[in-house]
Amino acid sequence: MSEIKELFCVPESSHYFLTHSIGLMPKSTEAHLSQAYLKPWQSGAEDIWPQWLNAIANFNGALASLLNSEPEQFCPQANVSSGLAKLIQSLPKVEGRNVILATQSDFPSAGFVLQQAERLGFTIRYIAKGQDLQSLDVWSEALADDVYCAFITHAHYNTNTLTPAAEITQLCRARGIMSIMDIAQSVGIVPIDLQVLDVDVVVGSCIKWLCGGPGAGYLWLRKERIQQLNPIDVGWFSHENPFEFDINNFDYASTAARFWGGTPSVASYIIASNSIKLMTEIGVQNIREHNRNLCQKIMSNVPEDCIASPTDLTKKGGTVVLKFSNSEQIEARLRDKNVLFDARQYGIRLSPHIYTDERDIDVLLGCLT
Ligand SMILES: Cc1ncc(COP(=O)(O)O)c(C=O)c1O
Repeated sequence: MSEIKELFCVPESSHYFLTHSIGLMPKSTEAHLSQAYLKPWQSGAEDIWPQWLNAIANFNGALASLLNSEPEQFCPQANVSSGLAKLIQSLPKVEGRNVILATQSDFPSAGFVLQQAERLGFTIRYIAKGQDLQSLDVWSEALADDVYCAFITHAHYNTNTLTPAAEITQLCRARGIMSIMDIAQSVGIVPIDLQVLDVDVVVGSCIKWLCGGPGAGYLWLRKERIQQLNPIDVGWFSHENPFEFDINNFDYASTAARFWGGTPSVASYIIASNSIKLMTEIGVQNIREHNRNLCQKIMSNVPEDCIASPTDLTKKGGTVVLKFSNSEQIEARLRDKNVLFDARQYGIRLSPHIYTDERDIDVLLGCLT
């Protein structure tokens, strides 16, 4: 474990519990960025773009290995919101089905994007705040005949509730509803197998548990869906042959790349692919087990009624959310001991990752109890 911790830039004078926001940088990132991004550029050689495009292809490949899918099904995006916006604009209309189902607990940015679909003739319907998002009955009732697609957050940012992804996507499939899953807060901490999960579209990023920095979002499409979705927001990299250069012939790429756009950014995908490979090597299952042990230790040492995230470890992502009546006092103690956390409406968020050790937990618990 200490060997794995050594692979990351872990601050020495503080105890880092903010992975739900930003995962720590692997030490190998700097050299990898220099090698794959700066070196080709510094060389001034003819093949800078081929090298960079190859590096972005490696990003798709790294995601494909991590999530058990194929590189052509991924399309790099700046972040979750922009991938979702492109997707929403590409949805074909279906008579009698114009509702986009979401929940009040989804990340607000996703809600802001989905609300724009009202301009395209869709209606947004939310599963209300306080409803049990782990209950299939709740989803079953909400997935009504007029629902066109369902936006499903895998792990929620506020309560860290893990939705029963496979069961919900199966319900969607049985009812002819398109399923869209946001894995930003689960990828890297919850094992995800896209061959098993019966989902249509995935949006995600790398900044949190994958420790891959900002700017490396992605859209994943089920193969059968690719040809049905024609995005409005395109560019030459959305073309089947970006180098055809015929202004009168736009031909959608036959892969998920149709959602790409103009000249891509490069550095963020190079940084992220290095991290994704590292996380795949460490193993998401191992990360999850380590995280569960530490979450359990935190939860066993605080009164149960202070735990705002699910107490069943199988029903949560990687974060423990704690709500105290003397919250100000606790937060002051945490700050005093250099425990890095943040607080949202539901409480203090604490995320132990593979680089978090027992000493970090002991200092944390000293502040909580
Ligand atoms: C569940 C979830 N989705 C999405 C995001 C971020 O979206 P974006 O990549 O558009 O910034 C977050 C960030 O905290 C999140 O927790």
